Amino acid sequence: MNDTAHLPDLPCYLNGEFTPLRDARVSVLDRGFIFGDGVYEVVPVYRGRPFRFAEHMARLDRSLGELRIANPMPHGKWRELVQELVDRYARAKGKPAAQTDQIVYLQVTRGVAIRDHVMPEGITPTVFAMTNQLYLYPDEVRARGVACVTADDFRWKKGHVKSISLAGAVLARQLSADEDAAETVMFRDGFLTEGSGSNIWVVKDGQVLGAPRDNLVLEGIRYGLLEELCQQQGIPFALRRVSRDEVLAADEILVSSATKEVLPCTTLDGKPVGNGRPGPIYQKLYAAYQQAKQAS
Ligand code: PDD
Repeated sequence: MNDTAHLPDLPCYLNGEFTPLRDARVSVLDRGFIFGDGVYEVVPVYRGRPFRFAEHMARLDRSLGELRIANPMPHGKWRELVQELVDRYARAKGKPAAQTDQIVYLQVTRGVAIRDHVMPEGITPTVFAMTNQLYLYPDEVRARGVACVTADDFRWKKGHVKSISLAGAVLARQLSADEDAAETVMFRDGFLTEGSGSNIWVVKDGQVLGAPRDNLVLEGIRYGLLEELCQQQGIPFALRRVSRDEVLAADEILVSSATKEVLPCTTLDGKPVGNGRPGPIYQKLYAAYQQAKQAS
């Protein structure tokens, strides 16, 4: 068995039971292990409460639907499971849940079966969930922004599925890690798709532009959120194909995800984005984002 003793003491949930993360075991024949045949969600939890949970459940349903896996639990049961995990983490840290910010990971795989590409019928999906402290980017990093690099989007054409088959994402992310950069901004056929684990937004002449909601991009929960925040702040917002030239000529570039929230990219392939500093649209959206968290 692989050594798991070095893993931190965190709670997790596996197929109906809460156990220490380091003790959780699944079969080697789990189709998640063999084929990457499953889906996941990453849910931020602020002050002990999941943020935008209904949107995560809707996306989980869409991803499961694409893989033809029936959701093993109704949304209400997922909500209970997440709250129990969040409470257990807080108890282990000796704090009230309301004093913790966490990041909850949920995963459903098709289940355990003898290896065969064809989808087996009648097997029980594997349900796994874990949580950890939510690490947010420190203010010093936000004040200067992060570096990103560009790459061709060599992933599959079902980017809208939040699939656990992430070798493409891992390869893409490593391209930026190799350059000490925070994210890889990808293009397919000369048009912006997304980051390896985030969505990318371009600001030009005061307008926020993002890639369309289609099969090439994972619709981050921040798609809806940023659109709302833009509306609230009177910032024009549009989803359409954005060319590589438009990205290179952006006034600002923003990166969004559960863990990055909204983050300014201030250098792209080593060149400054706009004036090379986090811009006014970023500042407005970040402030509005923090307010949305407080109000949640
Ligand atoms: N990644 N695009 C991709 C490919 C992603 O993997 C993610 C999230 C996003 C942003 O989605 P959201 O705003 O819902 O976090 C876009 C998560 C955080 C991860 O894999 O850890």
